[in-house]
Amino acid sequence: MVDDLPRAVLGFATGATPGPTYRALGTLVAAGEVDFTGVSVFLLDEYLGLGATDPRSYRATIRREAAGPLGVPDGAVFGPEADAADPQEACQRYEDQIHAAGGIDVLMLGIGRNGHVGFNEPGTPFNLRTHVTTLCDATRVDNARYFGSVADVPTYAITQGPATICDARRILLVATGAAKAPAIARALTGEVDEDCPASILRTHPEVRVLVDPDAAVGLGEHVRRVARLGEG
Ligand code: F6R
Repeated sequence: MVDDLPRAVLGFATGATPGPTYRALGTLVAAGEVDFTGVSVFLLDEYLGLGATDPRSYRATIRREAAGPLGVPDGAVFGPEADAADPQEACQRYEDQIHAAGGIDVLMLGIGRNGHVGFNEPGTPFNLRTHVTTLCDATRVDNARYFGSVADVPTYAITQGPATICDARRILLVATGAAKAPAIARALTGEVDEDCPASILRTHPEVRVLVDPDAAVGLGEHVRRVARLGEG
């Protein structure tokens, strides 16, 4: 893909799920098989109040664990300015930056146990663009490992909204582990509705979903049905 689009605009999720992908890409870069130097990276979300130099910020994490090893220059890594005096303005600026870059070519997403994508928690209107969001308790619990305790996890974040996410030309949703099975089943086989933010991906024409066997447990029937259709 990067060979096809040497100046690709990529959207990167943070969290545990994409780590192996970023590391695998880093290995290819180290072997000289791909070149990310012309690529730019846009973060999916950021904790409100954390500046880019805070090691717990998603901007610092993506630089350390993805962009850096891939050889993407720091100046080509963009994220919401979550420590801005006016977060609403920061949201609009981020939308403008994505637009000025020509939009996101490929967006990599994980999924929360509650079906969130980005930090769009259940109930987020599908038409929202980049906005300030309140994190659910479950999300703060899941991310406590990066902060030492739940109490230290920020309560608010800035996230690309469902409408921003769906503007990406291509989307890759990755889910691993049994804890994600209910969310994956609900997103892919349940109703498309705002109670399950990831379900909006079913309205997008270019989505790939990669799940390991544990995360796919709830898809048994459905996957067999798709496989049978494929044979036919
Ligand atoms: C991260 C993000 C979240 C995570 C999701 C899964 O930037 O936007 O939606 O992708 O919470 O997190 P992990 O991969 O840690 O299970």
